[in-house]
Amino acid sequence: MSEKKQPVSRRQFLNYSLTGVGGFMAASMLAPMVRFAIDPVLEATSGSEMHAVVDVSEITTEPQRFDWTVNQVDAWYTSDVTKSAWVYKDENDEIVALSPTCKHLGCAVSWASNPDYPEEFFCPCHEGRYYKSGLNVPDTPPNAALDLFEYEVKDGTLHLGNIVENTVQEGGA
Ligand code: FES
Repeated sequence: MSEKKQPVSRRQFLNYSLTGVGGFMAASMLAPMVRFAIDPVLEATSGSEMHAVVDVSEITTEPQRFDWTVNQVDAWYTSDVTKSAWVYKDENDEIVALSPTCKHLGCAVSWASNPDYPEEFFCPCHEGRYYKSGLNVPDTPPNAALDLFEYEVKDGTLHLGNIVENTVQEGGA
């Protein structure tokens, strides 16, 4: 049995050629766009970045506010963001680094800023109050304790990282 070669018609040849060229052009245009769109997802991210904040010798038993700057990458936008923490040493000589963000509606709290409550953190927005441990004073607007920063001490310097929930209970006031 003889095999007859089917010649490719001019119409078929044009169809194949145009489909191939069109597909190649579409892929060439779409590939960079897709790569650009998912680029932040492909970036390697580190779990917890620690930032040097203050020499440990400066930390006392009185809460002090320390600020530091982090370079924040939000998708394609990079900016310097200032962060703050209220830091002190507790009665066991352990470092406590509290977030200044009120757990009611997010205003900034300050230590001993209200003369009526000299041993508490005070939020001026709605008179929220917290004990030194960060625990919220009952019957004031906040309904949770101030968050804590993860910390580590390296070469005599306090480094702060992610914010974690403060699980201090009553009695830790
Ligand atoms: S935001 Fe702090 S008490 Fe309301």
